[in-house]
Amino acid sequence: MKAVVFHAIGDIRLDEVSEPSIESETDAIVRLTSSAICGTDLHFIRGTMAGVEPGTILGHEGVGVIEALGDGVRNLEVGDRVVVPSTVACGYCSYCRAGYYAQCDNANPNGPGTAFYGGPKEAGGLNGMQAEKVRVPFANVNLVKLPDEVSDDEAILISDIFPTGYFGADLADIKPGHTVAVLGCGPVGQFTIASAKLLGAGRIFAIDQHEDRLAMARAQGAETVDFSREDPVETVKRLTGGVGVDAVIDAVGVDAQHAHDGPAAGKPAPGEAKDASPAARTDGPAWEAGDAPMQALAWAVEMVAKAGTVSIIGVYPPTDNLFPIGAAMNKNLTIRMGNCNHRKYVPMLVELVRSGQVVPTRILTQREPLAGVIDAYEAFDQRRPGWIKVELQPGHASAEGRNG
Ligand SMILES: NC(=O)c1ccc[n+]([C@@H]2O[C@H](COP(=O)([O-])OP(=O)(O)OC[C@H]3O[C@@H](n4cnc5c(N)ncnc54)[C@H](O)[C@@H]3O)[C@@H](O)[C@H]2O)c1
Ligand SMILES: [Zn+2]
Ligand SMILES: [Zn+2]
Repeated sequence: MKAVVFHAIGDIRLDEVSEPSIESETDAIVRLTSSAICGTDLHFIRGTMAGVEPGTILGHEGVGVIEALGDGVRNLEVGDRVVVPSTVACGYCSYCRAGYYAQCDNANPNGPGTAFYGGPKEAGGLNGMQAEKVRVPFANVNLVKLPDEVSDDEAILISDIFPTGYFGADLADIKPGHTVAVLGCGPVGQFTIASAKLLGAGRIFAIDQHEDRLAMARAQGAETVDFSREDPVETVKRLTGGVGVDAVIDAVGVDAQHAHDGPAAGKPAPGEAKDASPAARTDGPAWEAGDAPMQALAWAVEMVAKAGTVSIIGVYPPTDNLFPIGAAMNKNLTIRMGNCNHRKYVPMLVELVRSGQVVPTRILTQREPLAGVIDAYEAFDQRRPGWIKVELQPGHASAEGRNG
């Protein structure tokens, strides 16, 4: 079968690989009809989140049809249409039973951390879903059946980025009326804005430097700030009467940029890419790491109100020790963070979409057959067009699926 294979930092290819098979009685094999590219995949190729083994199939977003099931899976049938939550969980350890699926004791064969598809060896080294088929462990828990009313285009957004945005808003402890700031208006940031609205936020600030991403945030009702034209901390404080916001959600992660233009450019960038990630590629033009890995977090700590909450869903590598702890401590902040417990939210989000309460597909801007995947990756890396969420269609061999 065809799959996107990680060869080295800065080197991914569409290769012919062998098909997965059932290895344990709780496995399923899913024939994928949709996959997608996430900002997390960019961290791997830019070297800011190192440790993906050469030969690993990338991709942790998937929708498809069950092709084979082990004898231990009793709640699903061959032929069921399913969405695959990005992180893998056993469903029976104490963490899973408390909803901390991303800290499952059993799903990661290589250690204590989160297990997910198409990631570093420390995250389980499982093959991913930018492929025609995938093996899903603990399938009774890690597959969620889709109702007919939910399309592939909608469902692929519920595999990772919508639950992650919802998780970020949930960690931010948003109460009706709260003022919230979302740093980063990529696909995850857009769903964070949508989720903050669902939880009743009174005002939402959205901060980025790409005008089309900011326009999408405004279309959702957010108040936008372009950090290459204004100092985002000064602007958010001014527009909140000097108070700051109740909560900030970091939807940027380790590839954060410093402002290169405007008043914020005059301030020093906190940290350099190599400080957080020794393997970071710092010599572009393609797959170039962000130049200020702590920038989003530094702004978050500054623009949040005293005793406010900072919620971190942007991904940082285990090598990163740069958090501004002193400034946070002296404001009595609450800091919450982590890898999304996808399985906790996916069934609820499927139902929100099925019932028409949320229409997630405005976030999808580009569809590509798997054959066009490397071009799609490069476009996402360069944000060309700036506003982009790529859906891959493994069933399509030609370029007919292209949609802008
Ligand atoms: N916690 C989880 O489980 C989880 C799941 C999925 C994705 N993620 C992470 O979420 C983050 C966002 O993902 P994405 O797909 O939207 O990525 P993306 O790269 O498309 O978006 C990041 C956005 O942040 C903006 N940005 C850069 N520096 C900034 C700064 N200093 N302030 C404000 N904005 C800034 C960029 O311009 C870009 O628009 C990534 O770190 C990804 O790894 C986490
Ligand atoms: Zn992701
Ligand atoms: Zn578990």
